[in-house]
Amino acid sequence: MRSFSFRILIFSIIVLKSCQSDEIDYGQPVDMEREYAGGETTIFTMSNIAYSSPANNLSGYFLEMHLAGDMEFEQIFVTAPAPLNQGLGPVYNNSSCIKCHPSDGRGKFPQNINSFSSLLFRVSISGVDAHNGPLTVPGYGTQIQNHAVVGFVPEADYQVIWTELTETLSDGTIVNLRKPLYSLNNLYQEIPSDIMLSPRIAPPVFGLGLLEFIPETDLLLMADEFDHNGDGISGKANYVWNPITQRVELGRFGWKANVSTIELQVASAYHEDMGITNPIFSHDFPADGWTDDPEISDLILNQVVIYCQTLAVPAARKVDNPDVNNGYKLFQQMNCSNCHIPKQKTGYSPIPALSNQVFYPFTDLLLHDMGEGLADNRPDYLATGREWKTRPLWGIGLQIIVNGHTEYLHDGRARNLTEAILWHGGEAENSKNAFKNLPTKDREDLLLFLNSL
Ligand code: HEC
Ligand code: HEC
Repeated sequence: MRSFSFRILIFSIIVLKSCQSDEIDYGQPVDMEREYAGGETTIFTMSNIAYSSPANNLSGYFLEMHLAGDMEFEQIFVTAPAPLNQGLGPVYNNSSCIKCHPSDGRGKFPQNINSFSSLLFRVSISGVDAHNGPLTVPGYGTQIQNHAVVGFVPEADYQVIWTELTETLSDGTIVNLRKPLYSLNNLYQEIPSDIMLSPRIAPPVFGLGLLEFIPETDLLLMADEFDHNGDGISGKANYVWNPITQRVELGRFGWKANVSTIELQVASAYHEDMGITNPIFSHDFPADGWTDDPEISDLILNQVVIYCQTLAVPAARKVDNPDVNNGYKLFQQMNCSNCHIPKQKTGYSPIPALSNQVFYPFTDLLLHDMGEGLADNRPDYLATGREWKTRPLWGIGLQIIVNGHTEYLHDGRARNLTEAILWHGGEAENSKNAFKNLPTKDREDLLLFLNSL
């Protein structure tokens, strides 16, 4: 009897000791909370539907709206007249939401840049409009539609030329980056010579309601526009015009935080990306000759808005794995986490499932100067031509499963995580250099960590 309990005692001491040494090695107790990357909305699906499930805590009216919105997100629009989903174009970029956001995930840079794809170009000429926003290009607006229905011509064709750049990491690893140079051709009418182009690939659309309901005051606390804390990282809120509320609001969506609400993002996606008039933007340009406007109802618009607000966030994986946690520690030490801020919380939301959630998006939703390499040189409200919004990193490791590729950044130029990090410059120059100088094993751990999100 005695020797038996003695053995248990010895065993417990060994177990306790090994836990302790874990804590000593990794500086802090393992942060299990971050497994719930989307708070109570989190789902534990790791398959190709990891981005496309309703929030785990969604029920009743909002779940019904979500499921209806799911159907609408997949509808393919066609030229009028048609019995269903008519109104595509006359000029447009693609014919459904899902074609640009496949499986609610991210588009891939198209092999043929003028095929139907997830890529679009925002445009403007120098100067600002009455609301401090991009100045429209006469005859084109602020987006180039490179497709048209029969009887109309596309506004222009997109063109890209790639050049290869080489980066050498401190352990001798050589990484090739591809740098795009964009232009337009086959213009349907003359275009001013000072036109500015901003290429954008469709980002994933899950978890967005959580980002929408982070209190504005919390986001402003993270901003440090004049870098008072001296870490070389500033962070600036974008303020943008919302034609629905007729107010200037904090921008949260789009690659430059150029849109303030999901409602506005969805209504303009219908209008600009697909040429579908709706209760908010009710005129086709050019006119399509049919008197069917708005081409979708208020109900459909609402369903799709709620759908985008309430897609679940997939759980982080391997949160207790020592290599992953070493990667997380390095992520913090290299100041990646000063822009990709791990933890956020929502305040009140009219959607109960989104209220008071603690979640881990790894973003501050703020603008940062990312250097010359990533610059599009096209300002968007307060965002300069070198500034971009910090991308959330949640779910990033599942993209290969959901979308079958590992392309990142605003135009999909990075073909893997290493390339994405090497494109960082400007305020992130020091972090990028720290990454380049990591010993091989640490670099692998950092990538393991990112892939566990
Ligand atoms: C031609 C491709 C295309 C189509 C069609 C399209 N989108 Fe997008 N979507 C994009 C791009 C590109 C962005 C980024 C825009 C930006 O940075 O300004 C985006 C951004 C978004 C965002 C904001 C995501 C974020 O994290 O900021 C939402 C929400 C969204 N789209 C929903 C929709 C819905 C709903 C539809 C259908 C009504 C739709 N999209 C149709 C390409 C597309
Ligand atoms: C100064 C702020 C800042 C710092 C520091 C920073 N990032 Fe970023 N990160 C961004 C911004 C902004 C983007 C989006 C840039 C773009 O798309 O052009 C981004 C994009 C990314 C992406 C691609 C995400 C996607 O979905 O396309 C990855 C991966 C990433 N960062 C990882 C890191 C890592 C790892 C570090 C530390 C070595 C780091 N970042 C440091 C601001 C920052």
